[in-house]
Amino acid sequence: MVTVAVAGGTGGFGKTIVQELVKQKRHKVIILSRKASPVKDLDVPVLAADYSNPASLRTLFTDEQVEIVISAIIMASEQSNQAQLNLIEAAAQTSSVERFMPSEFGVNYTPEMLSFHPAAAWWLSAVSALRASNMQFTRVMFGWLTDFLGTPHFPSNLSGFKYVLDFENRRAAIPGDGTDSITFLHSRDVGRYVAALVDEAEDGKEWPEISAFAGDRMTWGEAVKLAEEVTG
Ligand SMILES: NC(=O)c1ccc[n+]([C@@H]2O[C@H](COP(=O)([O-])OP(=O)(O)OC[C@H]3O[C@@H](n4cnc5c(N)ncnc54)[C@H](OP(=O)(O)O)[C@@H]3O)[C@@H](O)[C@H]2O)c1
Repeated sequence: MVTVAVAGGTGGFGKTIVQELVKQKRHKVIILSRKASPVKDLDVPVLAADYSNPASLRTLFTDEQVEIVISAIIMASEQSNQAQLNLIEAAAQTSSVERFMPSEFGVNYTPEMLSFHPAAAWWLSAVSALRASNMQFTRVMFGWLTDFLGTPHFPSNLSGFKYVLDFENRRAAIPGDGTDSITFLHSRDVGRYVAALVDEAEDGKEWPEISAFAGDRMTWGEAVKLAEEVTG
């Protein structure tokens, strides 16, 4: 058994990861949140985390003897970027935390992307901080979520998000010419994969810097064709 803290375990990906870890009944799981309120349908302790205070995070990790930190904090602002950087700093200063999974769950953010996607800097700053630490870390990437293609008919903890395909208004806006290949996966499978990485950690297996995997692979053109068939 290892003790895993999931920061942002109240949100879409975080809750899904916690659910999969709990299902295994193998590890001790705690959720870190800005407020210590229970999460609906989850019997997991929720601890208040002051992300602006690395010293208090360090005390929390040490008191709980946390061995693995999974960040599922949404990377949507400079504030949440700083919260994750403080989490990394605090974890690196403990003797208990050995591994860290940053909030990635998407694509391979690279410095080349910065010119057209400045927010990539948030993912890259976490990678730099982790490389400078003595913790093992792995960046989970898989592409695009199928959750967004099936809501509200398919269960998901993720909030709906329209991208490329707008089922409601029967519209599609394809980036490029539609022949680029995209990989898709449901968030529940990402949760299972993350839980398997935690098992591997317990078994002493080293984490690679990048843990990339895929479910379905198709082009946006094929996805639009499928959507047309499904919706008639
Ligand atoms: N590949 C894809 O298609 C895809 C799709 C969606 C998301 N993602 C990625 O998955 C990750 C998580 O996304 P999500 O949709 O699951 O996020 P989310 O549900 O919007 O938010 C997750 C949690 O972040 C915490 N949070 C928000 N602002 C914060 C702040 N300023 N400081 C600290 N914590 C804060 C909140 O927890 P508390 O309120 O409890 O503190 C929230 O529950 C992101 O890295 C995102 O890019 C990928």
